Amino acid sequence: MTQGASSTSRLAEFEYPSAEVIECPFPFYEALRAESPVHRLPNGDILISRWADIVHVVRHPEIFSSVVGPYNEHVLGGPRVGGDDDGPWQLSFSDDPDHKRNRTLNYFLATAEQLRRFEPRIRAIADGLIDGFLEQGEVEFRSAFAAPLPRRVMMDILGLPPADEARFARWFSGQGPRGARLAAPEDQAKEANNRLELADYMRKLIVERVDQPGTDYLSQLARAQVARDGTLDLPYLVTECVGLFGAAVATTAHFIANALLVLLQYPDELARIRHDQAPLRPLLDEVLRFESPVQWSGRVAAIDTELHGVPIPAGSNIQLMWGSANRDETRFEDADRLWVGRPGLAKYHVGFGYGMHRCLGAPLARQEAEISLQQILARLPNIRLAEGAEITHIQAMNQRAPRTLPIRFDVV
Ligand code: HEM
Repeated sequence: MTQGASSTSRLAEFEYPSAEVIECPFPFYEALRAESPVHRLPNGDILISRWADIVHVVRHPEIFSSVVGPYNEHVLGGPRVGGDDDGPWQLSFSDDPDHKRNRTLNYFLATAEQLRRFEPRIRAIADGLIDGFLEQGEVEFRSAFAAPLPRRVMMDILGLPPADEARFARWFSGQGPRGARLAAPEDQAKEANNRLELADYMRKLIVERVDQPGTDYLSQLARAQVARDGTLDLPYLVTECVGLFGAAVATTAHFIANALLVLLQYPDELARIRHDQAPLRPLLDEVLRFESPVQWSGRVAAIDTELHGVPIPAGSNIQLMWGSANRDETRFEDADRLWVGRPGLAKYHVGFGYGMHRCLGAPLARQEAEISLQQILARLPNIRLAEGAEITHIQAMNQRAPRTLPIRFDVV
């Protein structure tokens, strides 16, 4: 039972975190919003579940800081991966003024011009993956497409050698820094080790790119950082690039898998999109709301504070439950229904977060998902869930996606 729930409450029926709630968290979120919108777990973590409260929190970074690392050692899998305990945190774990300076430095990640350059490369990566299973008539979509596509895209953008892909797959097989704190100790240790190995790899590569710059993002970022600061800040660049990869890969893989699963579960939408691809963007936005790949992000109370009368001591870990805010009926009419073309959706859904830390890679993630679905629908006729496929979800605390997605299609 969660703390603060009386025996007559619906909330009392749920254990969090637990395998059952992670499999389908939405009834739990509903009970939270109704009964305990600022909810303290037995370990002291505070869950914030209503849309309006989450917006309030992100608008007050002086009270609810993003610099969560110093308060829980497992957030980054150990000390700052860049190797300098006094260096800055990566973007998503920083507050202003560091955050503003570094967000400006990274702004060119997903500009319209970059997206135009990436477009044919993403399409080629998507087609190459489809070629690998086109003749089979069936495939496990997550491992054959959704997971490798964003990994290859990010490796391409950063200019990393394709031969290193297997190593990247291993480094990113875990829960990511935000969810890791609640994971089992052996998983935390594995996560920490993966991050340090990745950091070593990035460090070597950045040094190479500084010596021999290319046109890739890594070279551009290093050049921009030196132009801004006068000297190379290797710990910062390593930390940022490791973080960037972590932010970009699993999230987009989940998004692509969730989008295809939703289409397969809603045949009317699938038929509509096959006939006319105009609703693809609105569908993808609705998927980000309905099945948010990132279910929550962390903050930490910088000072003693309170919300709705609930005391929040300084140092408390706070979970901003994006997945719950996106189902908040006071913000979204008929929130538990998939509604493609939902009015006001793009403005209000928080699938990419909200405010100053809103996802910097959002346009790229959308582009990857859009191209993926375009190519999948164009090239795999009569696509459907494999008979008897039982969909269960990954057991990551803060992420949502099907564990596997077995599909069938006609071979022509
Ligand atoms: C569907 C895929 C994605 C989802 C659902 C997603 C979700 C999010 C969310 C919820 C945040 C806000 C975190 C917070 O407020 O604490 C965020 C931030 C961020 N995301 Fe994404 N993301 C995705 C893809 C990407 C991609 C592809 C990239 C990079 C290429 C990326 C880079 C970032 C960065 C750098 C931040 C930190 C921004 C800042 O702190 O100013 N994300 N993302």
